Parts: sequence; structure tokens; C-alpha cells
Amino acid sequence: MTAIHEARSSEYMNWAKTRSRARFNLATSGLANLKLQELQVSLEDLEITGEGGYGYPPLIQALADRYRVDAACVVTAAGTSFANHLAMASLINPGDEILLESPAYEPLLALAHYLGAEVKRFQRRFEDGFRISPAEIERNLGPRTRLIVITNFHNPTGVLTDDDTLREVGELANKRNARVLVDEVYLQMLFAEPPRTAFHLGNEFIVTSSLTKAFGLSGLRCGWIFAKPELAKRMWLLNDLFAATPVHAGERLSVVALNQLPDIARRAQTHLDRNREMLNQFLDTRNDLEAIRPPFGSIIFPGVKQGTVEKLCDLLREKYETSVVPGSFFEMPAHIRVGIGGDSETLVEGLSRLGAALDEPGL
Ligand SMILES: Cc1ncc(COP(=O)(O)O)c(C=O)c1O
Repeated sequence: MTAIHEARSSEYMNWAKTRSRARFNLATSGLANLKLQELQVSLEDLEITGEGGYGYPPLIQALADRYRVDAACVVTAAGTSFANHLAMASLINPGDEILLESPAYEPLLALAHYLGAEVKRFQRRFEDGFRISPAEIERNLGPRTRLIVITNFHNPTGVLTDDDTLREVGELANKRNARVLVDEVYLQMLFAEPPRTAFHLGNEFIVTSSLTKAFGLSGLRCGWIFAKPELAKRMWLLNDLFAATPVHAGERLSVVALNQLPDIARRAQTHLDRNREMLNQFLDTRNDLEAIRPPFGSIIFPGVKQGTVEKLCDLLREKYETSVVPGSFFEMPAHIRVGIGGDSETLVEGLSRLGAALDEPGL
């Protein structure tokens, strides 16, 4: 058993906060940040302190309405990050086995270790388009598996898992009394109305998400968990040992943002579609990058066919003032994760610099 508290940090998060910035930053995975002045908000919309209790009712109701879930199933949290923490900490005990996708968003893996889980993995393979294989999951499920963890879209590859596949995974979990946690932070980038969520697929599903990636609203820390009421209640009670009370001004601003989300979403979708076209034009010119090209979202995870990614990333940073995420953070060191959600000028120039770095002799 992995000792509880053995993992006390996330290497990736540390890198993202201290070393990912660059003039041409293709390392971020969300939409460019929306400015306060782009939200129609007035001082009357805000207040410093709320009434307390479990959840700010207007925020809970806005999320319940948007995602068509019962308000008793909604737990709010500081971003998807803390939603994942609360969800996992409520679902597993030290020594429980969990099954986590590979490649994985490293903070999820670190969190599972931190909570003392015994972590088993199932592979999402390049040659299968990074799709989830329920057969592979079944092979790795054991009598002690309590939880299967999936990101949808998948970070780092941006690949969508369809509802039929998720239902199959749910049935496998159900047979063994396990649950399925789906981190849907990127699924918001489908921009479907009403939005899609795996929470509706069966009782074994718990989902987490936030307004962070798709809407450029990372700073609001508007995250949530959907779980059946009894489990949701357990999460609220557990939260009393962590954040206890959220930042009320953030809750108020989140309600304002949720009311304007259809407009924000329309702009975000147009922006991403334009940027994806630029990305695809770039990829068409490169036979040294091998990529699964997702039709949605803001990230792509090409394999680099020549040279080492470590050298490429150093060169990109030092000579070309450009950053991408080295695949080593996602357990695939021959890949890079490229984010396309930033402003279009930065993307075009960043991609051109990536091309120039790839063309350097001796890479
Ligand atoms: C899969 C996944 N979950 C959660 C997060 C964090 O989201 P938030 O900023 O809402 O905490 C990220 C950010 O990169 C992510 O990729």
C-alpha cells in the first residue's frame, strides 16, 4: 500500500506555475482569460459575506438548471481541482484500489497517491486514437477496485469519450460495486446546449467540472461535483475540514457569469474553431509530428518523430521564446501537448516557431 501523505505535491502543477510561461505560450490548456470588464457586472451584484450554510443557493440552482440535475446533487468547490479532491477523498479510503487512465493528468495521479490509494492503470493508446477500451478496463478491474477515473475530453490528448463507451464502463463498475469519476472540465468545450454530462448515464457516475477551461473564467474558481444526494452530503461535510466556506464574492460573480454563459460560449466556440483551423494547417505541413486530431477542444498531443522532446522544449524556450508541455508530465516523453485556446496571433507565431525549432539541424 502506498503510504498516505507520501505524495505531497504535483510536479506538473509546480512546473505549470513556475516554468511554463513564455512570450508564445502554447502550454496553457484553456481559453484566454476573460476580463472583468467583458462580464456585465455591477457592484450591486457583489457582496463580501454570504449567509453561510452548504452552498450558495443561487449558484447551486444555476448549475442545477443548466445541467438538469437535482440541486441536492450539486456540490460547489474551488475549481475542478478541489472538486476532484473532495470527490476522491469522499469515495476512497487508504489502501483502496483505483483504476486511472494512462496517460493521465498528473495532479489526479498525485492526488490518488496522496489519499493512499493503490493505483492501477489502464492504457489509452496512440494506435487506438487514445480511445478508452472497456475491455482493457475490464482486464484491470479487481475485486478491490473502488473507483475508475477518466477525463473527458482526455487530458492530454483532447479525445472525446462517447456516452455508449462511458455506459459500458459504468456497467463494468456497477458489477463490482465500484464507481466512475469523470472529470469533465474539457467537455464544456463541446458547447452543447443543454450541456452533456456523464452524470445522467447511471448511478455509479460522479462528475467534476468548472468554468475554467472553456470560458476563460479560471480565476472564478467556479467548480462543482455532481453526485447522488447522500454522497453529495458526505462531500459537503468533508469540505468542512478543508475550505469550510467559499469566497462569497466568487460565488456571486459565478452566478453572473452563468447567466451570460450562452454568449460567452458562442464567442469561445468561434475562437476555438478558428484556432483549430490554424493548427490543422500547421500539422498538414509537418511530417515530423504524428497527431490524433480531435475535432473539438483546446489541446492536442502530437508525437515528435525526430530528436528528443527535452531538447526540443529547451530550444523552443531559449531560442524561440515559446512553450509547450513536455509529454513526460503525462508519462509519454516522446509527445508534446500543444494548447490552442490562447489568442490567435500568439498561436500562429508560436506554431511557426515550433516549426522552426523542429527544422533545426541536430535536434
Ligand atoms: C483534467 C483537468 N482537471 C482539472 C484541471 C484544473 O481545473 P481548475 O482550474 O478548474 O481547477 C485541469 C487543468 O489543467 C485539468 O486538465
